[in-house]
Amino acid sequence: MSRLLVCPPEYFQVEYEINPWMRLSNEVNRERARDQWYGLMRVLEQQVGALLERMQPVPGLPDMVFTANAGAVVGSRAVPSRFRHPERRREEASFEAWFRDHGYEVAMLEEGQYFEGAGDLLGFPDAWFGGYRQRTDIRAYTRLSEIFKHEIIPVELVDTRFYHLDTCFCPLSSGELLYYPPAFDPYGQTVIAERIAEHRRLVVPQPDALRFACNAVCVGKHVVLPAGCHDTVKLLEARGYETHPLPLDEFMKAGGSAKCLTLALD
Ligand code: ARG
Repeated sequence: MSRLLVCPPEYFQVEYEINPWMRLSNEVNRERARDQWYGLMRVLEQQVGALLERMQPVPGLPDMVFTANAGAVVGSRAVPSRFRHPERRREEASFEAWFRDHGYEVAMLEEGQYFEGAGDLLGFPDAWFGGYRQRTDIRAYTRLSEIFKHEIIPVELVDTRFYHLDTCFCPLSSGELLYYPPAFDPYGQTVIAERIAEHRRLVVPQPDALRFACNAVCVGKHVVLPAGCHDTVKLLEARGYETHPLPLDEFMKAGGSAKCLTLALD
């Protein structure tokens, strides 16, 4: 059973611009956003068989829906995020409180050591990758690898549109990697290619990458991804995955999609 932390979009809105997708002039349609979010939850619960843990949304924190950024969770340990942007720093206390209230052993990073949780730290059981430069500071990974006693391979994100690792990099349950190589610097691309054998690498074409095809939730054989990523669906189905494309464009207005709206708790 896969447990996911989610937060209802009660106060979701674009109230500031902290990534190239966000435009104050591109207003969120609240009702559509709500429908899209509940549609995602329905598929996750009923078709994917995930168990959802819902946290209480907070007025004035419009990006709290993006629980992937709550922190990093490994087993019973949690490290809450330290956001780069002051706008999102106001979410930190709520996420930390949620981890503490739910019995996690919480380890804190120093203030100013930017780290944006499972938005930037992702991987396979044997190889963890940490995206840095846009949001997370590379130095956070030194501390995180001590806390989790696991190697973390830092990979630099060079395209501001792909500002979190989960916007361009999606490890799949059978060991394949769905990703968009141009979002990484040449060194990062080489490191990924060294760690993940070629037959395991599924390269997403640019048009799908720009629709956030890599921002997918993979649970067992199921992959939930934004609608319209037809080439990616073909890539996934050829590997035996069952795909669930969903309209999530209201969340793209904030620079997020399926994966950002969830945090895997195990
Ligand atoms: N507006 C949010 C931000 O810029 C979107 C976060 C999306 N989360 C993610 N894990 N990619 O921080």
